[in-house]
Amino acid sequence: MSFDLDARIRKVPDFPKPGILFYDITSILMDPEAFSYCIERMVERYKDRPVNAVAAVESRGFLFAAPFAHRMGLPLVLVRKKGKLPGKTRARRFQLEYGEDVIEVHEADVHEGQRILLVDDLVATGGTLKAAAELLTECGAEVEEIFCVIGLPFLKFREYLAGIPVTTLIDYE
Ligand code: PRP
Ligand code: MG
Repeated sequence: MSFDLDARIRKVPDFPKPGILFYDITSILMDPEAFSYCIERMVERYKDRPVNAVAAVESRGFLFAAPFAHRMGLPLVLVRKKGKLPGKTRARRFQLEYGEDVIEVHEADVHEGQRILLVDDLVATGGTLKAAAELLTECGAEVEEIFCVIGLPFLKFREYLAGIPVTTLIDYE
């Protein structure tokens, strides 16, 4: 099946700052055919893989991970920004382009024996996903693969995430 996903992704120049071209997935969400295409591609790729849980990175990762987890009948672990999860959490601090951030998971939701598909909308430097993967691994789970709709390989996420396979539906140079 050939499907022009590129045509369904809004590109916004100079956002969030001058010189940055922003790849916006809200245009996929507005387009049921494009949204279904993304979820179907995930199902196709992972239906016969030994994945027994899905983890999603706040916030845009939730949008793709939730329909996939529901469709596959898999538990969904939320990796959230600091202070959002009410239960006992484990946290990890990581570097952003400017400054740093902290992500958390519920300790009770992640454990040994989980083979996790880690999902986000877009991977740029890989910093967010690396921190998420390390957090899940620290809690005893294994990250089987990372899935993102969009990849920006010129920011070298594959090198940064070395050791974890990363699948994207579309890459922009
Ligand atoms: C964006 C994007 C990824 C991350 C990618 O999220 O959705 O999660 O940045 O960047 P990296 O590979 O360089 O870490 P953002 O932090 O803007 O938040 P949002 O998903 O809540 O909009
Ligand atoms: Mg995000």
